[in-house]
Amino acid sequence: MNAPLAPAPQPARIQADLDTLAEFRDPEKPGWTRRAFGEYGVAGRKWIAERMRDAGLDVRTDPAGNIIGTLPGEGPALVTGSHTDTVESGGRFDGIIGVLAGIEVARLFTESGVRPRHEFRVVDFFNEEPNPYGLSCVGSRAIGGVLTPEQLDLTDPDGETLRDGLTRVGADPDGALRCAWSADEVLAYVELHIEQGPLLERHGVPLAVVTAIAGIHRAVITVDGQADHAGTTPMDLRHDALCAAAETVTAIERLAAGGVATVGRIESQPGAANVVPERARLWVEFRGPDAGWLDARHALLESAAAEAARTRGCTVTVEWVSAVAPVPVPDRMQDTIAAAIDRLGHRQERMFSGAGHDAAHIAPLAPMGMIFVPSRDGRSHCPEEFTETGQVATGAHALAQTLLDLDTP
Ligand code: GLV
Ligand code: MN
Ligand code: MN
Repeated sequence: MNAPLAPAPQPARIQADLDTLAEFRDPEKPGWTRRAFGEYGVAGRKWIAERMRDAGLDVRTDPAGNIIGTLPGEGPALVTGSHTDTVESGGRFDGIIGVLAGIEVARLFTESGVRPRHEFRVVDFFNEEPNPYGLSCVGSRAIGGVLTPEQLDLTDPDGETLRDGLTRVGADPDGALRCAWSADEVLAYVELHIEQGPLLERHGVPLAVVTAIAGIHRAVITVDGQADHAGTTPMDLRHDALCAAAETVTAIERLAAGGVATVGRIESQPGAANVVPERARLWVEFRGPDAGWLDARHALLESAAAEAARTRGCTVTVEWVSAVAPVPVPDRMQDTIAAAIDRLGHRQERMFSGAGHDAAHIAPLAPMGMIFVPSRDGRSHCPEEFTETGQVATGAHALAQTLLDLDTP
């Protein structure tokens, strides 16, 4: 291995950045809420752009709202990044450590002079978490060239389109359809992330090399029934949309065998205790490592939902809003990351990611790899989400070493 040894990250700086970014949160909600289309998301990302500038990066925001910090060098670029938006009432680490580690690595490269010959980019991808319009990974889809005009027409519960939401937060929706990177501008992409599950902690291992990222198919199901008086309409004469939706939820749980499935949101209209529900909507996702299994869920879900609706005299539509195939991490990238971790003297294991990541959308452009650090008690997408700063620093060190190794053929 000809690459130099990576300088060690400074945990105190990472801690300070974690603490400051954590202050950009909705104080009305438990835990940390920094939604991409909300005021705290916008303010937090302004702060991220400043931190990138302080780290010596040239910073630009692209039409999709991605904040891209660059250290000049020869092309193609070595790229790292993640996201700083959270789920509602989420935590302080999911995505965030990938962006802050990228900034720390940029600081190390500029201060030490041990830096890649290639250009280096750190990206805070816009809106990785599922948004109210029903889409996730808006920024990385745009960079990967897979954001579509139809997705811009998706609406939130108030009827606002994703297109209008992007404009509201200062992005340019039409430009977002045209800001994809070309494959020849990226040498490799490496993302540091928390595991979001219990395995590393359980095994007492500080780092994982990701082998593949789960595919995710999402649908919105709308069941239409009939609104009636809740006191006077006999049970056998009802067309209760919410009851049909409830049966669909348990059918989805059965369809999860071989992967996972979740109905994370239900809406019922008109939403009054004394009116039989006229309409119910379900937001559902299936995840798994097998593309064929995911594809097969479509017909199975549609027939289960149709059957649940039919028995209650309701109708149902299933709209598939996104389908991301499982993405394998190329063996060469897994082995490069593993060798970098070995060189730093840390234990490691290989792990499948059940969580989705921006990396999945960058994978078509360039060899992609991911590094995981432990999550306390395996908790994530909740306020209890926690990773020690020293563990984040170990991950950032592995990230820096991997980038230097990729830089040196
Ligand atoms: C990302 O947070 C995901 O939903 O896996
Ligand atoms: Mn997440
Ligand atoms: Mn994440």
